[in-house]
Amino acid sequence: MDIFEGIEKRRSVRVYRNTPIEEEKKKQIDEFINSVNQESGQHFQVFYDEPTAFTGMFAYGRLINVKNYIVVVGKKGKGQEEICGYYGEKIVIFLQTLGINTCWAGISYKKSNVKAIIQKGKKLYLLIAMGYGKHLGNKRKSKAFEEVTNLKDWKKPIPDWFKRGIEYSLLAPTAINQQKFCFKLINDSTVELKKGVGFYTKTDIGIVKYHFEVGALPHKVNVIIK
Ligand SMILES: Cc1cc2nc3c(=O)[nH]c(=O)nc-3n(C[C@H](O)[C@H](O)[C@H](O)COP(=O)(O)O)c2cc1C
Repeated sequence: MDIFEGIEKRRSVRVYRNTPIEEEKKKQIDEFINSVNQESGQHFQVFYDEPTAFTGMFAYGRLINVKNYIVVVGKKGKGQEEICGYYGEKIVIFLQTLGINTCWAGISYKKSNVKAIIQKGKKLYLLIAMGYGKHLGNKRKSKAFEEVTNLKDWKKPIPDWFKRGIEYSLLAPTAINQQKFCFKLINDSTVELKKGVGFYTKTDIGIVKYHFEVGALPHKVNVIIK
């Protein structure tokens, strides 16, 4: 499975089987996370066979039988949540290409049971649950192209790379499926991405940026977050 199919197939999975992640895949995941940490300057960490982080009762989105997870530990400061969203989603889609399911979790976990190394100047932003899903997730509602684009100043035909970028952005996970973002086409290689107001929208916007860039490929786009 390549990253395109990974994006098309991914859905949040909240109920997991007992099947452990194979040693060979663990090696690939560890290597991928190391390379993401080097590139991003963040400190994503993976934990296998740790069943307690997702225990407890939550008002929203209970995750069941989660035994493996990634902690999203990033630098403190402005713009860091977007970066964590961008690189976290890169990991999520990589996992999907290995046939491993995921669910981002902003609130559905028990912080005191989470294993994480948090160095000075860094903080824990979120978790990503992962493993082999019992079910492969549900299709959910999505906004339409017109609801997430602003093309009023664009006088030329809409390029195909932009349409594909939006199509992939609409497949991105967002907290409570809020899809609070809007793309504006600026020129043949630049778009602006505006974040709406809401819960975890800073992380969402980084996730959406990654989806847009992949959707637009092989066209290279500069996505400016506003
Ligand atoms: C930043 C972020 C935080 C999330 N937090 C939770 C959570 O705490 N609990 C949960 O069950 N789902 C959580 N989700 C998953 C979303 O509810 C899910 O992505 C959204 O409903 C869209 O569905 P899909 O991922 O299947 O496309 C989160 C997603 C994102 C992007």
